Amino acid sequence: MTNPVIRPRRLRTSGALRRLASEIRVHPAELVLPMFVREGDDSRPIGSMPGVVQHSIDSARRAVVQAAEAGVGGIMLFGVPSRRDATGTGATDPSGILNLATRALVDEIGDALVVQTDLCLDEFTDHGHCGVLAADGHVDNDATLERYRDMALAQATAGSALLGLSGMMDGQVAAVREALDTNGFEDTALLAYSAKYASAFYGPFREAVASTLVGDRRTYQLDPANRREGVREAQLDIDEGADIVMVKPAGSYLDVLADVAAMSNIPVWAYQVSGEYAMIEAAAAQGWIDRRRAVEESVLGIRRAGADAVLTYWAVELAIWFKEEQA
Ligand code: PBG
Repeated sequence: MTNPVIRPRRLRTSGALRRLASEIRVHPAELVLPMFVREGDDSRPIGSMPGVVQHSIDSARRAVVQAAEAGVGGIMLFGVPSRRDATGTGATDPSGILNLATRALVDEIGDALVVQTDLCLDEFTDHGHCGVLAADGHVDNDATLERYRDMALAQATAGSALLGLSGMMDGQVAAVREALDTNGFEDTALLAYSAKYASAFYGPFREAVASTLVGDRRTYQLDPANRREGVREAQLDIDEGADIVMVKPAGSYLDVLADVAAMSNIPVWAYQVSGEYAMIEAAAAQGWIDRRRAVEESVLGIRRAGADAVLTYWAVELAIWFKEEQA
């Protein structure tokens, strides 16, 4: 028996060496905080997402200032309207909750972070689908594109810098890009939720936006079995003019994320979704895992797989921890 000559453990012998040899780190500037804003004067807790709330516009103002102070790169806004209808008119109404909140938060925060908006109809439709329905009840792709075009103009007008296309309609990036460009919004950027899977991990989000959805989204979101198709969707969105592509959820789709990161010539983001958040919070609350280490490791894994930025409900807390570690 000869002793090993190659000893990878050398670089793990001290904290200082480990820090220096670390391949990646999670910087606050590449974190995006998803935020829910409800109609009404008071904020409300979300039971399945301890620590996350449905904000009022006022509490959202305070939260966005806190996020900017922590160094977080951006926020992604979702609206929780009090009234919904078949075509989601609240989404295109300039005084709909999402558009009002966008304007208020852009006013509040200026250029300190990027205010982004979810461009999808599900929060605004009474049936809870991401698009409008045809007479036979199926989600009508091309009629939905018309709604998305109007929604994009409403959001851009409200001041959103980056529109998050999360509806999984075919052709949505091209349709929205064209609507923006022909209306003077050439500089409004598009984040395409390209590889968005029909996932059980969106469960707590349904509570967060008080969704009325019955059934599922499997006729438009991707089948969790399909890796190659996720890459195809990302390529289509790049070709249609997306500025950023995204994979969602993150933790169970790291292979897709790595594939997209390898082929993309534009930034690739990932969304650590509500169920990923809830699982770690729940296990930590039981004392079954070390909360901080699990949170940091989960986001590090997403970065390591190839995400340039990560949407995560822990964005502010991660940013604060990052700063503590620098001090
Ligand atoms: C659709 C949308 C959803 C999420 C973000 N945008 C819900 C869905 O597709 O069912 C889920 C985010 C999360 O679970 O954290 N507007």
